[in-house]
Amino acid sequence: MKPALIDPFQRKIEYLRVSVTDRCDLRCNYCLPKHFDGFNEPDNWLTFPEIERVVGAFTELGVTRVRLTGGEPLARRRLPDLAHRLGQLPGLDDLSLSTNGVQLSRQAIALYNAGVRRLNVSLDSLRTERFAEITGGGKLSKVIHGLEVASTAGFQPIKINMVAMRGVNDDEFEDMVEFCAERGFALRFIETMPVGDTGRAASDTYLDLQGVKESLQRKFELVPAAMPGGGPARYYQVAGTETRVGFITPISQHFCDTCNRVRLAADGTLYLCLGQEDRVELRPLLREGISDEGLRAAIENAIAHKPERHEFKQKPEKIIRFMSLTGG
Ligand code: 5AD
Ligand code: SF4
Repeated sequence: MKPALIDPFQRKIEYLRVSVTDRCDLRCNYCLPKHFDGFNEPDNWLTFPEIERVVGAFTELGVTRVRLTGGEPLARRRLPDLAHRLGQLPGLDDLSLSTNGVQLSRQAIALYNAGVRRLNVSLDSLRTERFAEITGGGKLSKVIHGLEVASTAGFQPIKINMVAMRGVNDDEFEDMVEFCAERGFALRFIETMPVGDTGRAASDTYLDLQGVKESLQRKFELVPAAMPGGGPARYYQVAGTETRVGFITPISQHFCDTCNRVRLAADGTLYLCLGQEDRVELRPLLREGISDEGLRAAIENAIAHKPERHEFKQKPEKIIRFMSLTGG
């Protein structure tokens, strides 16, 4: 029988998100404070061999899919080397990356050659000034160029993540659908989550995506569709195009029943839920020389404590850490 990590709610955990750094070259208003620089010390980051060891233990326990996240993962030096090594692990059959796209044009080809195939890029606005405003000074042109290079390099699918914000970018949803349809990208709208003070403050502009979907349906024909490896989004095909539009609705319609993931932070903390504080520190175990068997046991024990669901609605004050610690 194949090994499997099953949590107390009979969910199979087959997906690990690996944050390689909590640092980021942007300061998206729903994620990090404008002048934040209280990041983790590099000494606390897991080294590449340590990350490889943890991911290896997960794959031995039945995890088949890994996503590299940050902060901004491309801010970690030599990321393609890590991707290449993870890609060699037996049992890992899907290696993907989430990025803000700013440094993508320089790194896309190396990442593709290292075996990364699926790419998610955050993009909340197609207007230069507004993009800079939302991201604390980000350059839109760099992200657009990064997307062009990534597309040419062969990444498939490329998904755009757009956090939908009332009064901030709610006049751009149709434009973003068209932008994605022209380029063969998928598009996912995301509801703002009250993660960290920043996420809570940004929740003032929270938009229920049910309404967004209805307004898009006045302009586009949206046909319910599946998306392989689609995760928590509910997808629709935009009729007459290759493009799928997904809605990620942690607040208006939570999807915890089908949660299949846990998150490894850059410092080796294993977070069991995006919306709970439950965690296990793996770094001390690694640095004390734990055996492979001991490491697998620690992971199994952690999964046995995975919470049933987040409480973003009931207890929005709960999560103190910033989203950049776990990368969404
Ligand atoms: N609510 C919703 N999405 C968020 N992200 C970061 N912070 C939040 C938040 N508070 C998104 C980013 C990125 C993904 C990794 O997480 O925009 O697309
Ligand atoms: Fe950086 Fe992503 Fe946070 Fe924006 S949302 S500041 S890109 S980690």
